[in-house]
Formats: sequence, structure tokens, C-alpha cells
Amino acid sequence: MNHTIVLLPGDGIGPEVAAAARAVMEAVAPHHGLSLTFESHDIGGCAIDAHGDPFPEATAKACAQADAVFLGAVGGPKWDGGGPRPEAGLLALRKTLGAFANLRPITLFSGLEHLSPLKPERATGTDMLIVRELTGGIYFGEKEEGDEEASDLCRYSRPEVERIARIAFEAARGRKGRVTSVDKANVLATSRLWRNTVVALREAEYPDVELDHVLVDAMAMKLIERPTQFDVILTENMFGDILSDEASVIAGSIGLAPSASLSQTHGGLYEPIHGSAPDIAGQGKANPVGAILSAAMLLRHALDAGDAATQIERAVGACLAEGTGTADVGGSAGTQAVIERVCDKIGETTGSIPLAGAASRG
Ligand code: NAD
Ligand code: IPM
Ligand code: MN
Repeated sequence: MNHTIVLLPGDGIGPEVAAAARAVMEAVAPHHGLSLTFESHDIGGCAIDAHGDPFPEATAKACAQADAVFLGAVGGPKWDGGGPRPEAGLLALRKTLGAFANLRPITLFSGLEHLSPLKPERATGTDMLIVRELTGGIYFGEKEEGDEEASDLCRYSRPEVERIARIAFEAARGRKGRVTSVDKANVLATSRLWRNTVVALREAEYPDVELDHVLVDAMAMKLIERPTQFDVILTENMFGDILSDEASVIAGSIGLAPSASLSQTHGGLYEPIHGSAPDIAGQGKANPVGAILSAAMLLRHALDAGDAATQIERAVGACLAEGTGTADVGGSAGTQAVIERVCDKIGETTGSIPLAGAASRG
């Protein structure tokens, strides 16, 4: 069966890492009888430059019709000086696809404990799934923009919290059976609604899943103190944005972290969690692994090709284990060399290479 994947390379290192995602999907497809068609479209800063709009109509239409969407990254200093923002294109895309459930797995690859800035005895065994609400909260509330005063409204409804909490509880059942819900219920009304909703859903439908609650400031500390205590972390849009960048470094680098943004009405959006990294863009230095692992998530979630996804994940594990990596993980390889090595490994891997958390990766 043929599947159409829309690629949105975007800005900065986005095109470099989107090429990686495409290359591994093309490498793995023939092994699993997959026929993939790729279409590229503009989003973000490059779309502002070409069409005056960060989310042009043609892009919106192609994404809506696709089986899945892959995004590199958007944004950069070029578009910081007023006028439309590239990031608005990404937010509009998430909203129109209904991509409310952002899964951000953070796994320290077994044998790669040296990549973590934490001591091995703290970091070893880190394997968590951050479930971030992606289409609500302060990102999408009413805004007032002003020179003297400005405001961003944070709003959540019970159904919005319930549907993302359900994703977290279901994920926990397939993992270690624990959910940590992160909020700021000591201060924020939306957090109190969040907490009450999560507690009620667990009581009604998921009594078998362990649930605890941690305030977001303490969570920032606990993640570093003892990351291995966490299984599924459930949180709202902005807290999830911040905590996932923090957590990614425990596994070595933000350049390694993938994500899937799932929808009830579409095959979803897949993107590495990092941004456009203007400081290294165009230099062939970007770590393509976050994008490559996002491609694996695309195959698993949108195309139901879990075996192909696992093959990519094993190839990445083997590549990093042998020391082929970019500078952010202490290696000396460029983006292209890593892509080629992973593609070579895809040809070679047959299931013999252990990968921590492979069974439970988002
Ligand atoms: P960033 O994630 O782009 O970069 C932060 C740091 O991490 C930089 O030092 C960068 O070089 C490094 N880094 C990031 N990805 C890397 C990779 N794959 N390999 C090696 N190093 C990597 O965050 P920022 O600098 O705060 O943001 C830059 C721009 O990206 C902003 O315009 C922001 O809005 C945008 N952004 C976009 C997305 C997205 O498109 N999904 C996500 C985050 C930030
Ligand atoms: C991310 C990014 C985006 C977010 C920005 C670019 C809108 O930081 O995907 O983590 O805040 O969600
Ligand atoms: Mn972010």
C-alpha cells in the first residue's frame, strides 16, 4: 500500500535533519513492503519569505491529505524583528491536525551512559515518556500584545485534560504502570482543574495505574536528581515544552530526542524536539538522530509499521555505540556521515542489538 508523507523541512538545521528522516524511511521501506511517496512543502520562516505566510494554504491542504507529516524545525533570528513569526506556522499546523498528544520519549541508550552529563549511577536506566498536551493552555489562549502591557490567557477544559490523561494512562499500561502528573496546583486554577480531572479519570478507569503528582518547580529538580524514578510524565503544554528540553540532556543531547504528536483524526505530526539551531545551521554539524527516531515513530504510529521502526532504532543504537556521532554527543562525524552509517546499519541489523527501552519507546 502506498503512503504519502509530507515533509516540512522548515528553517535552520530543519532541512538537514528532514533529509535524514527521509533517507532512513527510504532505506527501511523495501525491507517491510512499504511504498512511500514524499512531498515537500514550506512552513515557518521560509514560507514567510516565499509566500508572506508561515502556514500557507497549499501546505495546510497537503498536510491534511497526507498519511503523516514530518517537520524539521522552524524559526531563527531573521524573523525575530516583528511581523509574522515562523513559530505561528507550527502552532497552526498542530491545531489544524488536532495533534493534541505530544509523546516525547527520553531513553538513555544502553552502553551510551557516558553521553549523559549526569553520573552513570544516576543516569543509567533512564527511560521515560513525556506526554505533553499540545493544542491547549497558554499557547492558544487569548493574547493581548502591547508595548506597555501584554497578556496570555491559560485555559484548559475538563475534556481537553481527560483526553491527554487517557493517552498517558494507556501508555503507562504498556510500560511500567506509573504516571507522574506535573502541574502548579499550589498557584494555578488550570492546574487544580488538571489535577482533579486526572485523579477522577484514574479512579474511574485506570485504578491499576500508579499515579502521583509533582509541582513543576520540584519536577525540574527531581528530573536531574533521580531521573530513573519516572515512567510516564503527564503535563500541560508549556511545562512539557520546558521539561522535555531539560530531560533530553540526561540522555546526552537535545539532538537525540524525537517526538510524535498524535491526533484523533489524522496520522499525526512527527518532529525532533529541538529547534532550528541557528548557531550551527548550514554547517553539516546537526545531530540527525532526533529526526531519525521521529521517523521511526512516524512508521510505528501512522503507518502501523512497528518492525520498520524498531529496525531504525536498532540501527541508531548500533551507530552511536560504535562511536559514530556528531559533536554534541562527543563525536567527530558530520550529519551526512551519521545518516549514511545509520542507513548502512539498517541493511545489517536483524535484531541482535539490545536497545534499552526498545519495547516501550513512544
Ligand atoms: P534550539 O533547539 O534550536 O537550539 C538550542 C541549542 O541546542 C543550540 O546550541 C543548538 O545548536 C543545539 N542543538 C539543537 N538541535 C541540535 C541538533 N540536532 N544537533 C546538535 N545541536 C543541536 O533552540 P533555540 O536556540 O532556543 O531556538 C532556535 C529557534 O528554533 C527559535 O526560533 C525557536 O523558536 C525555534 N524552535 C523551533 C522548534 C521547532 O520547530 N519544533 C523547537 C524549538 C525551537
Ligand atoms: C517545541 C518548540 C515549539 C513549542 C515552538 C517552536 C512553538 O519549542 O516544539 O518544543 O514551544 O512547542
Ligand atoms: Mn520546545
